[in-house]
Parts: sequence; C-alpha cells; structure tokens
Amino acid sequence: MTTKQLFGKRIVLGVGGSIAAYKAILLLRRLTDLGADVEVVMTASARQFITPLTFQTLSGHPVHTDLFATDDNMTHLRLAETADLILVSPATANLIGRFAQGLADDLLSTLILASHAPLLLVPAMDGGMWQHPLVQQNVKTLRETGVEVLDPEFGTLASGHIGWGRFPSEETIMSSIISLLTMPGDYHNEVLLITAGPTHEAIDPVRYITNRSSGKMGYALAQSAQKRGAQVTFITGPTSLTPPPGVHTISVSTAEEMQDEVHKHFARATVVIMAAAVADYRLTHPAETKLKKQGQKHLSLALSLTPDIVGNLAAKKTGQFMVGFAAETENLIEEATRKLKEKGLDMIVANDVTQPDAGFGSDTNAAIVLDAHGIVEDMPLMPKRGMAMKILDLIRVCLDNRQ
Ligand code: C5P
Repeated sequence: MTTKQLFGKRIVLGVGGSIAAYKAILLLRRLTDLGADVEVVMTASARQFITPLTFQTLSGHPVHTDLFATDDNMTHLRLAETADLILVSPATANLIGRFAQGLADDLLSTLILASHAPLLLVPAMDGGMWQHPLVQQNVKTLRETGVEVLDPEFGTLASGHIGWGRFPSEETIMSSIISLLTMPGDYHNEVLLITAGPTHEAIDPVRYITNRSSGKMGYALAQSAQKRGAQVTFITGPTSLTPPPGVHTISVSTAEEMQDEVHKHFARATVVIMAAAVADYRLTHPAETKLKKQGQKHLSLALSLTPDIVGNLAAKKTGQFMVGFAAETENLIEEATRKLKEKGLDMIVANDVTQPDAGFGSDTNAAIVLDAHGIVEDMPLMPKRGMAMKILDLIRVCLDNRQ
C-alpha cells in the first residue's frame, strides 16, 4: 500500500453546521496527505463555526458555499459529475433529514441529488437527537437507498452529557473512506449465497418457535458483498429489515423452506455464508387448528430436529467456500471448532452472545473467526456493517490463496 493511497481520487467534502466542523479540518488534512483532491462545500450553518479560508488553504481550492454563485457556473453539476466520493462530515440531524427527503435547497443538497458518487455521512449531534425516532427513520431511509451512514460513538458529547452521538474516531472515518474509494470490486467473479435471520417453526396456525436473531449481520454481509461486485442470492428468514437494494432476496419462514432454497441455489454459488440462526427443533406434528387451553396446567410439545442445512451440503460441495456462524453462551472456541469440523465448514465466525452489545439484535458485534488451523482473527466490538467488510476481506484472502 503506497502512502498516496488516494492519489487521483476526487472527494467533495460537505461540511455541516456542528461544533464537530473543526474535525473536518483534520480529515481534510489526512485526505490530502493521502493524495486525494478535495473540494469543500460548506453549508450556511457550517460557516457560523469555521471560516471558509481554513478549508481553502488546506484544500488548495476555493470553498463552495453558494448554489447561485455567478463566478463558477453550474458548480453543483461539475462537482457532482467528477466526484469519486461525497463525504458529509459532520452531518447534522437537519442535513440527514433533508437528504432523506430528497430536498435540494442549497449547494450541498443539490449536488448530492445530482451525483451518482457514493455518499458517506458522518453524523454528529447530541445523543437525544440521534436516538429520536424521526432521525433514526431518516437514517434508515438513507441506508436503504445505499447511502453509507456511520454510527456515532458512545462518549462525552459537546453538551457535557454522556451518550451516543459522539463524532466517530478519525480512524473509523478514514477506514470507511478508504474502503469506499478503493472498494476493489474484488467479488466480481463470485456468486454468493447468504442466509440470514431466524426461522419460524409453527406450533399451530397462530404460534411458532423462534430465536432472537434480528438478521442484521446477514443483511450487512449481503449488502457489503453486493457493493464489492458479487452476485448475491440472499435467503432470509422473517425479519423487520428491508432487503438490501440490488440483491436477489428470497424470503422463507421455516428451516425446511430455507434448506429447499439453499439447495436450489447452491450449485451456482462460489461462496456460501450461513449467517441464519436456524431453529434446531420444530414441532413433530404442528397442530392444524389453534391449540386450546382446556384447563390443563402443563403442555408438552414433541419436537424433532430440523435438517442441518449446512451440514447436509457437505457431500454436495464442488469447491464452494463455506462459512458458518456460531452464537454461543459458553465454551466459544471449543463449540465453534466442533461445528467447523462437524459441518464441513472452511471458516466459522463465533460470537459470545452474552457479551453486551454483541450478537442478537444489536447493531454491533464482536467475534472470533476460526478455520481448520485455529483462530484467524479476533474482532473487537464494531458495527455489524464494518464486521461484514472484515469477514469478506478474510474470505477474499482464503479464495486468493486457493487459486
Ligand atoms: O445453530 P448452530 O449453532 O448449530 O449453527 C451453526 C451454523 O450452522 C450456522 O452457520 C447456521 O446457519 C447453520 N445451521 C444450519 N442448519 C441448522 C442449524 C444451523 O445450517 N439446522
């Protein structure tokens, strides 16, 4: 990796009106040090915090502030067409809301709508604002349309309060920028089959057995693989998440339905990632009508094992790289190693779901990745989307070593 890793890359840095605007100066410095050509667009509120002259001096370009400037005709179109990345840092709750609504009432919002370049938002706001359902809804809308929105971090805020909303670390932001700009398309020749979410096993027409899987890890993997050029078939159990744009998504309910779909698509796949938390047991005889209480104090249900989807694929393998997940509450490494062997996997991602903020339902995860030789990587707590990228990096290395 050269020190001028971003040489030739054109970045539009949009600066919003937050006290974190000063951190954009440090980012600009890092980006130009890596060889990027950065043009800065400041919103009117950003100029209340910092003067354009600082950005102009460091970027070597005039700073753009006005959609209707007469000296540089059609600035928004030129910037929109030539940018390799639009980075908005800091992105305030107001900017996030306006982008999510598709508004174009100043230079920054207009050029964002006019551009096909990837868009990366680095939110900075008070924790209460970040957690407001309307802000969360806007973030969700943006993410569903393919916009990368970093998660703020936990810590002391400008208000003196402690909570979520802290500007992400410079390292986190830089690694997202670098990965977006150098996103290698390194999965162009790969066909990925990814499963996600829980399964529902019927007890009767109104009740079912399931588990706490939210599907977030599998969804992050599908989206990241697609962004890296893979053709993705995504088989998901019931979740509340929206399918990643551009991904061929198949919704299933039970372990058996998931197995049927996985089998249908297995032969074409080059990489299979089983992130689904498949129910291990189902009712031997689900009731056809709703079970009634009828006064009895206890109810016993006869359960049978569901098919081991990934285990059953072992005999059908024609070179597919197989990755499984192991969510454990004890003996993490031993359990994961056993599953790796028993299920004929090439790699397993093991996480301790008793750890706070890791595993089921959370947006973050911590995991240990193992292969037949032992531990490959110990991944600390990080957003699931970042972890998805790291898992894909590890798989890529294995695929390259096999060739
Ligand atoms: O549930 P368990 O911890 O055994 O899951 C380990 C791996 O096996 C996961 O990748 C999961 O998707 C997969 N699995 C499966 N079929 C099952 C149960 C789990 O393919 N019936």
